Amino acid sequence: MRILVIGSGGREHALTWKLRESLRMEEIYCAPGNAGIAQEAECVPVDIGSPAELLKLANWLRADLTVVGPEAPLVAGVVDEFESAGRPVVGPSKAAARLEGSKIFAKEFMVRHDIPTARCAIAESYSQAIEALAAFRCPVVIKADGLAAGKGVVIAQSLEEAARALDDFIQRKTLGEAGDRVVIEECLVGEETSFIVLTDGQGVVELAPTQDHKRLLDGDAGPNTGGMGAYSDDAILDPQARNEIMTRVVRPTLQGLVAEGIHYRGFLYCGLMMTAEGPQVLEYNVRLGDPETQPIMMRLRSDLVELLLSTRDGTLASHEAHWTPNPAVCVVMASAGYPGTPETGREITGYEAAEGLGGVKLFHAGTKMEDHKLLTAGGRVMGVTAVSEDLQSAIQRAYSAVEKIHFEGMQYRHDIARRGLERRAPAKPGGSLPVTPNQSGYPATAKLPPA
Ligand code: AMP
Ligand code: GLY
Repeated sequence: MRILVIGSGGREHALTWKLRESLRMEEIYCAPGNAGIAQEAECVPVDIGSPAELLKLANWLRADLTVVGPEAPLVAGVVDEFESAGRPVVGPSKAAARLEGSKIFAKEFMVRHDIPTARCAIAESYSQAIEALAAFRCPVVIKADGLAAGKGVVIAQSLEEAARALDDFIQRKTLGEAGDRVVIEECLVGEETSFIVLTDGQGVVELAPTQDHKRLLDGDAGPNTGGMGAYSDDAILDPQARNEIMTRVVRPTLQGLVAEGIHYRGFLYCGLMMTAEGPQVLEYNVRLGDPETQPIMMRLRSDLVELLLSTRDGTLASHEAHWTPNPAVCVVMASAGYPGTPETGREITGYEAAEGLGGVKLFHAGTKMEDHKLLTAGGRVMGVTAVSEDLQSAIQRAYSAVEKIHFEGMQYRHDIARRGLERRAPAKPGGSLPVTPNQSGYPATAKLPPA
């Protein structure tokens, strides 16, 4: 079987690495890939924004299965393009991808199908937005309607800050067309979870639960990013919570799609806030998360090719996924300047020694090989991922590997998965558990990111 993976990030590296394990796999390609993926697959440069170019490539490769990593090609309709040409692909159609491509579509969909989500107002002009703002208390959340690469959400602490965000999005067009229309919504309180399923529209396979770390700096400070690290641990959600998410969110979402004549096939990511009133949907993504995929793939025992083939064939209901109970942790190492304009072209050293540690895998994102040197080539450079028998030792392993890697200006968080340790050792009544660096297993000597 010839498989094509579309994308170039850590998520696609983890997918490629896992797909390669399958006995069904004969040839594997990635478009466009990165230096790490090039160790596992043949990389082909292509414009992934063009569904026609991607189809041309898949036809040329005679790909038996194409897996789409990022949202942009899905929103642009790559799956429709492939399906109309009879080329097998796993991913949602353009109509289904609106769940991610338009926050207004997603909110209206949730309201139509009674899926729990924050109360909101939709505005199509600045004056309408300012008027709608009056019905909300601060903090209030302002979301640009369209795709904005993680820059389209502002949690405003004051009305002035909210008005500034609205001015930026709608009047000054800082996000281009993506900010022409906005969602204003109440700010929810609770713990965030990334709950991802694979579905063929009817059958659903739950992936292991994960938690992302979206803010740049330790303690959830600093600006939002694409994700500075993630971990997967069964203790993130107990069976009752998983059941509630399936009943209140996943099933109604899939039923809603069917009722609206939208066929959904692929990964569906529900970004949830676990509130006192139960799970509430913050966002849908129509793909796997990055960096959530990295720890998920480290824990997956089942054959991913088999799972994807049954998704393609509509027989997923007879499948389930098997997981190692061992938790996995992914620490993202990013370039100076990220999430703004990153400094690139810096030499990365120590990565071979890091990868030599047992239970550790480096999933590359922004890397390239030049003159036998590994160089940084993007904001998020690599996700150092480790699996171990308990969360504490998985954290320790990941940070031991991180310590071996060096590039100028590197920044990373030192507290990935710390919340998971707190969950496993809850505070005694009347006192909170002080998680010091040594207790939580990450090296006290780890370098702090630049302020
Ligand atoms: P989104 O792209 O919609 O997931 O938003 C990015 C991040 O903003 C989320 O991961 C949350 O941390 C935060 N966020 C979004 N919506 C809300 C909300 N209604 N209440 C609290 N935090 C939110
Ligand atoms: N890590 C968040 C996302 O993939 O959207």
